[in-house]
Amino acid sequence: MTGLRGTPERLDAFISAMPKVELHLHLEGTLEPEMLLRLAERNRVEVGFADVHALRAAYRFSDLRSFLDLYYRGTEVLVTEQDFFELTLTYLERADAMAIRHAEVFFDPQSHTRRGVPFGAVLEGVRAALDEGERRLGVTSRLIMCFLRDLGPEAAAATFAEAGPYLDVIDGIGLDSAEVGYPPALFQETFEAARANGLHAVAHAGEEGPPAYIEQALDLLKVERIDHGVRCLEDPRLVGRLARDRIPLTVCPLSNVRLGVVPSLEQHALRRMLAAGLCVTVNSDDPAYFGGYLTENFLAVRRALDLSFNDIRTLAADSYSAAFIDESRRRRLLAEFDEAASGYTLDHP
Ligand code: ADE
Ligand code: ZN
Repeated sequence: MTGLRGTPERLDAFISAMPKVELHLHLEGTLEPEMLLRLAERNRVEVGFADVHALRAAYRFSDLRSFLDLYYRGTEVLVTEQDFFELTLTYLERADAMAIRHAEVFFDPQSHTRRGVPFGAVLEGVRAALDEGERRLGVTSRLIMCFLRDLGPEAAAATFAEAGPYLDVIDGIGLDSAEVGYPPALFQETFEAARANGLHAVAHAGEEGPPAYIEQALDLLKVERIDHGVRCLEDPRLVGRLARDRIPLTVCPLSNVRLGVVPSLEQHALRRMLAAGLCVTVNSDDPAYFGGYLTENFLAVRRALDLSFNDIRTLAADSYSAAFIDESRRRRLLAEFDEAASGYTLDHP
């Protein structure tokens, strides 16, 4: 396959249909306003927004903190195991409809346990939906438990201890929430304990925080992927290391624009990251809040950065290689991609 030299519309149709892998998605960030208000009513939680329009109107963020304030308010409607089940299954049904074949999803237990929701209710609801998603839809998944870095290292350690009985159904740990002022170094002990238990490790770094946080995540937390990482470009030596070691970066273009990490999609670092030989993947972060799921993120960067079929193929292949899956699943995804690509060229000679 040398590339599709068709119109942008043809490439967009291919992007919509190609088998996709999502590696950076917060389940709580898939809570659409309609579901949020429905759960608020069901659980008798006062959210302070009269309707969907009022809620959507509030989705204007000046930075990560302003988003997180609203995002955590939204999580307050999630109370029962059934709520977590519905949230997760709704995402997986959407994922299936947009040809996402594998999703590695984050959840933030502390945003629920600090309100008195039992850890088990969160985990069991999410887990049951992931299992059903694989059984019924064929969407495979991995579950990554994130620590809220702004609650500090002791809270992270306590949450990891609480997760003890469930470690067999958690695949990895991550680090999220307000970044600046909460460097990865603070969380070394909990990450060491998690890795000793055979869990994968990832961390948000270099979203609002400096390139030094990316280095700390690699050197001290020994993470296998960096979530976001767009600020790596400020340090050419770090870019060289990330490229040489093929450390995947899970980039979220629409999120970056909505949170002011980049001034516009046209100025997004993705193209420069590809040119630097980095292992970059496209993801959606908190799609209910940022105006698009995975397909919309791909389409938006394709347009804004005028990406070619070969760029799209590189991004897709990078996502397959960055996923926590075995070689046979990886090969299947690549074969499905090639099949979609060849079918597409045959359909559009
Ligand atoms: N939690 C949910 N979305 C996040 C993001 N983009 N950065 C940090 N923490 C988050
Ligand atoms: Zn994120």
